[in-house]
Amino acid sequence: MLAGKRILLIIGGGIAAYKTLSLIRLLKGAGVAVTPVLTRAGAEFVTPLSVAALAGEKVHTDLFDLTDEAEMGHIQLSRVADLVVVAPATADLLAKMAGGRADDLASTLLLATDTPVLVAPAMNVRMWEHPATQRNLAQVLADGVQVIGPDAGEMACGEFGPGRMAEPEAIFAAVVAALSDGPLKGRHVLVTSGPTHEPIDPVRYIANRSSGAQGTAIAAALRDLGADVTFVTGPASVPPPAGVRVVRVETARDMLAAVEAALPADAAVMAAAVADWRVANAGVQKMKKDSSGKAPALEFAENPDILATLSKGANRPALVVGFAAETENVVNHATAKRLRKGCDWIVANDVSPETGIMGGAENAIVLISPEGAEHWPRMGKDMVAKKLADRISEAIKNR
Ligand code: CTP
Repeated sequence: MLAGKRILLIIGGGIAAYKTLSLIRLLKGAGVAVTPVLTRAGAEFVTPLSVAALAGEKVHTDLFDLTDEAEMGHIQLSRVADLVVVAPATADLLAKMAGGRADDLASTLLLATDTPVLVAPAMNVRMWEHPATQRNLAQVLADGVQVIGPDAGEMACGEFGPGRMAEPEAIFAAVVAALSDGPLKGRHVLVTSGPTHEPIDPVRYIANRSSGAQGTAIAAALRDLGADVTFVTGPASVPPPAGVRVVRVETARDMLAAVEAALPADAAVMAAAVADWRVANAGVQKMKKDSSGKAPALEFAENPDILATLSKGANRPALVVGFAAETENVVNHATAKRLRKGCDWIVANDVSPETGIMGGAENAIVLISPEGAEHWPRMGKDMVAKKLADRISEAIKNR
């Protein structure tokens, strides 16, 4: 979906410029061509050579480079891309954008471009909070520029607060959303994935078996159709897909809070293997072996049902899809589960050990909807994800 797209990437002068190198790798990995522009200050933090090597293209640096102008004028350069990304966007670059200044190549391109612009600000917290920067920010937002970040946290200068550039994965996700032209463009879809971990004490936990592979594949397939995906994941063994907003959680209660915080959404796919119970008497300190040889007794409390809470809540997405992991009577159990939990569809699968589905690459599912049960042939989890994403896209088209 991203292959064939081109980004004009302006790298400003901030310590966060080193993170922009990872962004280039993510973009290139997704088949996006990158035309890099390095400001004079940017070149103090990363070298033109490393940028050129990663982008696989010439780095543009100077407005008055005669060779550059002969090959491709700066006006033409400002139009080559589908999206202009400024990362890091320094206070100075934001000020130039807000004021319409054009005194170097980067600011001239930003003034001359007719393509959408996404900026990732990065600066010291005091500079970020200064009324002048906030005025400039309000101006660029009013001009239609998209802004991602900054994040809060410890800064390279030792101070703490908002000002850190958004992580490359988050900028990449924003780029994907901005470039996407699939049928789910502009739609927000929430996906839960992976197991939850319920602590017994600070070093031990109970969990469901789940690699997170199916949920990850679904999030990627929805992203490929252009959806803006929030991916709420427990500690899974497969990494989350690039180009989605990742929210990492540990317990079922954390997952419910993250799901509620991500609303509203047009659709939700709850693929997580949530632990039904947590340990009610979890130890604050590590439980020690008792000299009497007596094993500790764990007491359990029921976890909230995230799918049921979402399906019956006031902020319910138009389409809610649950999963059912069963080991027998798949269709009957899953049909009852759909009604009990109040979701629209249930993706049911037989997870008996002999099927090899849990942790495996394939899945054989039955889609339970108000229309009945639809048996899908056994196929790769990626194919299941694509088919499901297409069905979701079709179902919410007119909602
Ligand atoms: N689920 C949830 N919150 C829970 C338990 C499950 O949101 N506390 C969701 C899962 O993400 C999945 C669906 O409910 O989408 C069904 O999960 P499953 O484990 O099959 O069902 P259970 O509710 O655990 O029912 P049972 O144990 O009776 O099979």
